[in-house]
Amino acid sequence: MTTRSLGTTSPRVSALGLGCMGMSALYGDADRAESVATLHAALDAGVTLLDTGDFYAMGHNEMLIGEALRAAPAAARERALVSVKFGALRDPDGGWAGYDGRPAAVKNFAAYSLQRLGVDHIDVYRIARLDPDVPIEETVGAIAELVEKGYVRHIGLSEVGAGTIRRAAATAPISDLQIEYSLISRGIEDEILPAVRELGIGVTAYGVLSRGLISGHFTADRQLAPTDFRAHSPRFQGDNLRHNLDLVEALRKIAEDRGVTVAQIAIAWVLGRGTDIVPLVGARTRERLAEALGALDVTLDAADLAAIEEAVPPGAAAGERYPAPQMAHVER
Ligand SMILES: NC(=O)c1ccc[n+]([C@@H]2O[C@H](COP(=O)([O-])OP(=O)(O)OC[C@H]3O[C@@H](n4cnc5c(N)ncnc54)[C@H](OP(=O)(O)O)[C@@H]3O)[C@@H](O)[C@H]2O)c1
Repeated sequence: MTTRSLGTTSPRVSALGLGCMGMSALYGDADRAESVATLHAALDAGVTLLDTGDFYAMGHNEMLIGEALRAAPAAARERALVSVKFGALRDPDGGWAGYDGRPAAVKNFAAYSLQRLGVDHIDVYRIARLDPDVPIEETVGAIAELVEKGYVRHIGLSEVGAGTIRRAAATAPISDLQIEYSLISRGIEDEILPAVRELGIGVTAYGVLSRGLISGHFTADRQLAPTDFRAHSPRFQGDNLRHNLDLVEALRKIAEDRGVTVAQIAIAWVLGRGTDIVPLVGARTRERLAEALGALDVTLDAADLAAIEEAVPPGAAAGERYPAPQMAHVER
């Protein structure tokens, strides 16, 4: 597995990371045994970066990763780096109730995550969204204290804009910004990507398949549970969905000409945007994982890139990437 650096202050990680969210929440039911098998297959294949959030099914995802790590061979367990997001507040009924970035809350969240994961340190720790009531310096400062004490190794950021990134980087070294980036979510290119590059901060890109929309496997007749994120995501609704799936069909032609899959084209495109970008793929079965890993062998040449750009020009997607109330929490 080729490796990439998560920013200038951080260790090298596998060129693809495994995003574990869908194994516990947001994309309908997942099979626990298959999830653990997928985690083990990823570690076996050389994936070293596992991404989670303490709020993914209220700790379920961290406990799942902890279980998989305990059952993995010692060498794979040693190589694995776990990246954890915190700060999202949940209700017992599954609702979302804002963000908490107060220093005391940061330390409280970390104490529980260490226990659930069954580890003595978290490799990368980040607040999932900016808490509008707490200056980023205070939140990052609290994580920096956890770094000093050895409970956290590196500080990350998630879905924040250039101004917040600069303030955070002035407070403590930042390893990477986790943010949505894909063929149909290119909002970071104008301001955010140049800012992180100037500051030596890496990018862990999520939503590289736009939550399955541009994977080539999603169909308009797919039934989604009410708890599935996509049941409420603007890009998956009515005319928007039909328009977006037309874009996928245009990509499919390019993929077929190359003898690869649509998902591999979409992942390879993000991989090709810079060696400072590590795509997180949301595979939760070994089959999807194998497909995603296949993208590492796909090199897109100038003709491929031109064809892709023509099929899916910047801004081509219909619909925002989050419903309006959630969009209000992402800085642009
Ligand atoms: N910082 C943040 O705000 C934030 C937000 C969201 C996610 N994340 C992180 O990023 C990770 C990945 O993000 P994402 O879930 O949006 O990922 P994604 O890779 O864009 O989408 C995952 C979805 O794509 C489908 N898919 C189809 N083919 C696939 C393939 N070959 N490989 C992987 N998935 C395939 C999966 O389908 P099936 O239905 O067949 O399983 C799954 O539903 C998450 O797990 C989480 O750790 C971070």
